[in-house]
Amino acid sequence: MARRYVCVLALVPLLLLGIATVSRSEGPQDKAHREALRIPSLFTEEERVKLKEALKGAIQIPTVSFGPDDFNTTALAEFGKYIYKAFPKVFSATFIQHEVVGGYSHLFTVRGSNPRLQPYMLMAHFDVVPAPTEGWEVPPFSGMERDGFIHGRGTLDNKNSVMAILQALELLLIRNYVPRRSFFIALGHDEEVSGEHGAQKISALLQARGIQLAFIVDEGGFILDGFIPNIKKPFAQIAVSEKGSINLKLQVNMAPGHSSAPPKETSIGILAAAVSRLEQTPLPNMFGDGPLKTTLELLANEFPFPTSFILNNIWLFRPIVKRFLERSYITSAQIRTTTALTMFNAGVKVNVIPPVAQATINFRIHPAQTVQEVLELVKNIVADDRVQFHVLSAFDPLPISPSDDQALGYQLLRQTIQSVFPEISIVTPGTCIGNTDSRHYTNLSKGIYRFNPVYLQPQGFSSIHGINEKISVTAYETQVKFIFELIQNADSDQMPMPHVHEL
Ligand SMILES: *[C@@H]1O[C@H](CO)[C@@H](O)[C@H](O)[C@H]1NC(C)=O
Ligand SMILES: *[C@@H]1O[C@H](CO)[C@@H](O)[C@H](O)[C@H]1NC(C)=O
Repeated sequence: MARRYVCVLALVPLLLLGIATVSRSEGPQDKAHREALRIPSLFTEEERVKLKEALKGAIQIPTVSFGPDDFNTTALAEFGKYIYKAFPKVFSATFIQHEVVGGYSHLFTVRGSNPRLQPYMLMAHFDVVPAPTEGWEVPPFSGMERDGFIHGRGTLDNKNSVMAILQALELLLIRNYVPRRSFFIALGHDEEVSGEHGAQKISALLQARGIQLAFIVDEGGFILDGFIPNIKKPFAQIAVSEKGSINLKLQVNMAPGHSSAPPKETSIGILAAAVSRLEQTPLPNMFGDGPLKTTLELLANEFPFPTSFILNNIWLFRPIVKRFLERSYITSAQIRTTTALTMFNAGVKVNVIPPVAQATINFRIHPAQTVQEVLELVKNIVADDRVQFHVLSAFDPLPISPSDDQALGYQLLRQTIQSVFPEISIVTPGTCIGNTDSRHYTNLSKGIYRFNPVYLQPQGFSSIHGINEKISVTAYETQVKFIFELIQNADSDQMPMPHVHEL
């Protein structure tokens, strides 16, 4: 708000100088000027070879996060040296500051020429989950190119974004581009194991510097292709929220005894009944709260009749849609807090009644609920005082970022999607079921958007953290192109500045 006021004031002297007509023609002129300066995202043959080779090299460095404090620090350090070599312009530009944070993460501050434009941030992470070689068509850290694809751990999650961001900036700098709007690039080294050493430290640093960001773009959403039965056309989904999470340990303690004279109930029996009640009692269906309703309304006309009719009239058919979404476990995860029983331990010897039984449950919290609300519901379902609750870790879902006409980050992504992927006619908001580093940045911006400008098919989805992760050379090139365009689009001060026309 304050910023908008400053911009209005800055225009006043121009008006007083007798060029009042500027107030009307400023918009189009400014636009024409920008269009003239615009650099087309066309890369030479040599650049295209270089950019794919750079990604392959990045995949070959095994930056594996094995556990919360268990990283391959040699590989993390090597990755730092690698990007320094691969992107000389980025590291030598006078208006770009580079800092290593938390030992291995990277923060770039790109100072734009117009300090009145609020900065934004592009983020990604270069650590990967482990990749045992079994089942892979090619070794997971080979970065091998085969049949038009670059194979390996990190090609989708998320070295593609790390490399594409730096690559796009490098290519812009080669063309002497000077950004108008400042931006940050935050590259985390421990996203897969919480981001506490990387993203969290970068966020604290930026908060200490008093930075507020217009918006943040992180990994998360994709161009989804073939995920919804009956929809043939792919559509882009920008995730505007992330589910929260609770890891809850349930424990039952009973007096130990001999199996020859068992008590009526044992720790195992009591705990098994409790977790079974939880599995049999799904948490409430929250359809209508959160972005899913908007998503379905935007997709309505893509479905055949009568689904299209139903989705165009959710106000009327809400109960039917609500029940329908429960039928598949994938859509069910979109409408509720999910309950997953992940560990169960009890017993040490065949003839001993065990004193302790323990189970661990992972809940993924719907954006419209909180940790407290879920714990309350869970206690009521278990309804047994002998079961103790220990919260191992928990965090609330992320706030839902705006996706309306005035939401700068969302609109810039939409605009860029429509120019780089002209075949995509639908852009919808969505919720990330997994979590990303962006949860550490909620204090810095109200607009956090998670979008990887890459087509994703169900097969590709299961390769993330699974086997045979790969990206096509064309898809990676398009991702570079997307960021190349996005940085230029973000330099426009046209939106949200309707006051220029109001004057
Ligand atoms: C750690 O990374 C280095 C390369 O930077 C590699 O040689 C080594 O095998 C990796 N160690 C493990 C345990 O993956
Ligand atoms: C956000 O700011 C509050 C208040 O300064 C602080 O307590 C909290 O830890 C910050 N959260 C994050 C994720 O940085």
